Amino acid sequence: MTGDEIRQRFLDYFEKNGHKVVHSSPLLPANDPTLLFTNAGMNQFKDVFLGLEKRDYKRAVSSQKCIRAGGKHNDLDEVGKTARHHTFFEMLGNFSFGDYFKEDAIRYAWEFLVDDLKLDRRRLWFSVFEGDDEVGPDDEARELWVRVGAPPERVLGFGRIDNFWQMGDTGPCGPCSEIHYYMGEDPDDPTKNTAELVNGPGDTTMEIWNLVFMQYNRTESEDGTYTLTPLPAPSVDTGMGLERITAVMQNVKTNYDTDLIRPLVEYAAALSEPSA
Ligand code: SER
Repeated sequence: MTGDEIRQRFLDYFEKNGHKVVHSSPLLPANDPTLLFTNAGMNQFKDVFLGLEKRDYKRAVSSQKCIRAGGKHNDLDEVGKTARHHTFFEMLGNFSFGDYFKEDAIRYAWEFLVDDLKLDRRRLWFSVFEGDDEVGPDDEARELWVRVGAPPERVLGFGRIDNFWQMGDTGPCGPCSEIHYYMGEDPDDPTKNTAELVNGPGDTTMEIWNLVFMQYNRTESEDGTYTLTPLPAPSVDTGMGLERITAVMQNVKTNYDTDLIRPLVEYAAALSEPSA
């Protein structure tokens, strides 16, 4: 399956499930002084999550062009060191604005990956927020993953860095739940396909999709302290790296080897060949 076909498949799956297909917004955010570049699919919906803007739909799906080269979500220092970072990428996302919440977000993600794309479920891992002083553990997400079919030992708890998402220092935020995929040999070998590789070293197991359960707005007061207040309605913001899921589907070791990026590398290589 080509990268273009995977993008279309994602849009079609969520459109079929009542989501409005929305175009990618520009890489330079129109009205948001807190961001230099668009860094996530949810940016263009920030005011909808906050209840400041109304749209004529409550569910949306997009493939958003993103740049993560500075600010809170900065991939620049990873480029050239990992198989999965490249600062510019496309984020496939489904969104609920006060409509469905955790249960359906998790069910849709499972169905899309396992039933539609037919990923090998032996290679899937899941993470949930384990809680801290500010926000409690997300036991509900853990139970929901098990209910859709994840083995309990494949659902792991992590802290704020991995499993609490916010766009910047302020704005809509919430606990998140990620899906990781083991790309190594023999998924049945428990010494190879291990929990330690989830959010661990190397690229063998990589995060492919992040489901954010948007529940709070973080604001900064004049004295520089930050406060969490509940959003008008619990919402959903997800993001799956198109180049990552394409690497999985095309069974290649790095995003650079997918049909989305490889032709660009080859073109640049041809241009830079010394003339005879
Ligand atoms: N906003 C979340 C992220 O960027 C999910 O899309 O990971």
